[in-house]
Amino acid sequence: MKQATLHTDRHFALAQVDPRLYGSFLEHLGRAVYEGIYQPMHPAADLLRGFRRDTLELVRGLNVPVVRYPGGNFVSGLRWEDTVGPKENRPRRAELAWGVIETNEFGLDEFMEWCRAAGTAPMMAVNLGTRGVDAARNLLEYCNFKSGTAYSDMRVRNGARAPHDIKLWCLGNEMDGPWQMGHKTAHEYGRIAAETGRVMKLLDPTIELVACGSSAWHLPWFGQWESEVLAECYDEVDYLSLHQYYGNAENDTPEFLARSAAMDRFISEVVAICDAEKAKKRSKKTMHLSFDEWNVWYHSHEQDKKLEKWVSAPHQLEDVYNFEDALLVGSMLITLLRHADRVKIACLAQLVNVIAPIMTSDTAAWKQTTYYPFAYTSRFGRGTVLQTVAQSPMYTSKDLGEVPCLDTVLVHDEAGEALTLFAVNKDLREDIGLNCDLRQFEGYAVERHVVLTHADCKAVNTEAAPDTVAPREDGVSALDGGVLTATLGSKSWNMIRLVKR
Ligand code: AHR
Repeated sequence: MKQATLHTDRHFALAQVDPRLYGSFLEHLGRAVYEGIYQPMHPAADLLRGFRRDTLELVRGLNVPVVRYPGGNFVSGLRWEDTVGPKENRPRRAELAWGVIETNEFGLDEFMEWCRAAGTAPMMAVNLGTRGVDAARNLLEYCNFKSGTAYSDMRVRNGARAPHDIKLWCLGNEMDGPWQMGHKTAHEYGRIAAETGRVMKLLDPTIELVACGSSAWHLPWFGQWESEVLAECYDEVDYLSLHQYYGNAENDTPEFLARSAAMDRFISEVVAICDAEKAKKRSKKTMHLSFDEWNVWYHSHEQDKKLEKWVSAPHQLEDVYNFEDALLVGSMLITLLRHADRVKIACLAQLVNVIAPIMTSDTAAWKQTTYYPFAYTSRFGRGTVLQTVAQSPMYTSKDLGEVPCLDTVLVHDEAGEALTLFAVNKDLREDIGLNCDLRQFEGYAVERHVVLTHADCKAVNTEAAPDTVAPREDGVSALDGGVLTATLGSKSWNMIRLVKR
């Protein structure tokens, strides 16, 4: 068996985990909203609001503290006013981002109701594509102003007496992308982000703002875009965004699983750019990051090319995730945690039906493979990330060079007296024996070792067989003389939780 060692010290804290690291994303896209979270005629829907209760239960199981809404590319052509008020007056629109018809039957106020039902909070995006400062400040007035103004009174008339009090706002979406409606140069975007941010904070200084970084690391303008945008809006914004999706179209699983190292590099480079801007500006403020779109996305690319246009809620971006996707999602979560000092917000894109951990049909709602690493990490990866040094067996990735077979992170929940190790063994054939000296954690004992593994990397969960890939509590680990030893099976995601007895 290959061997690995993890070194740590309970006093060497990297950072407190911001709970918003476990955010997700709901876009008006495909069947995310319609047939996903909202389907009034469905037997599982609540009678009053049409929210699917089966979906809600699965969403609650993910413990997502924040959900980004309403897009995505969708937001860059949106008139938010279309989405509020009596449903019979709301216009149907040709939605140009995804080539569909948007009925506006579910809108802003319904989303706020849904957030309450799901136990989550909104991360709202404004349209800086086809619109700008004026529409953004009016939307903020509608949402956060108490009453006595045109837009706040409109909200009250629409049935929401109390302000929505939305604290987190995205200044547009992927404005670097030529595919984006109203796409801008870095300078144009930096200026409009600065002005929109400044005006929004005049109305509500308690809000936090996210500016758009590049839509992916491989784009030729990555780096230059970030610098130019921050040169214009560093003082007005609180976070810079990162987006990244990975795929395995070449069917090279080791290469695919190495993508967490690419994500790690992407984050480090954005941190470096932010800090360079901080230095140039002699600023006291440290820019934090919002990794507000991340996931695996490629399974549905071909089928989506055949979709009929101008229909409502088509089966769009419906990736069916397999076991190896769950391994990478687990590794990406570990990577985010390992950057918890700078990444404060992250959104798994997306939440339901559209590249999502939850799928629905007219007869059921079920968990995709990727649901599990997210649900466990979100629930138990809370507290303080400890600095660790890992000695792991390595393998060679053609894109990334030498990468570790093992991704690990250690999270200490001091108040709850728990220590949680998340680990992914990417070796497809060999187990890895891990040891970690934990003598500083006196009185702790292994409570559970959860494992997600499957003989077939391509195994999937479906409506007919929803538990094909599911976690088991049968991991092999022990704490002996204060030293943790564990067997991390070949191709496995693991959570080892120690608690104080
Ligand atoms: O999440 C799907 C799409 O991916 C989003 O609409 C867009 O922001 C990104 O390109």
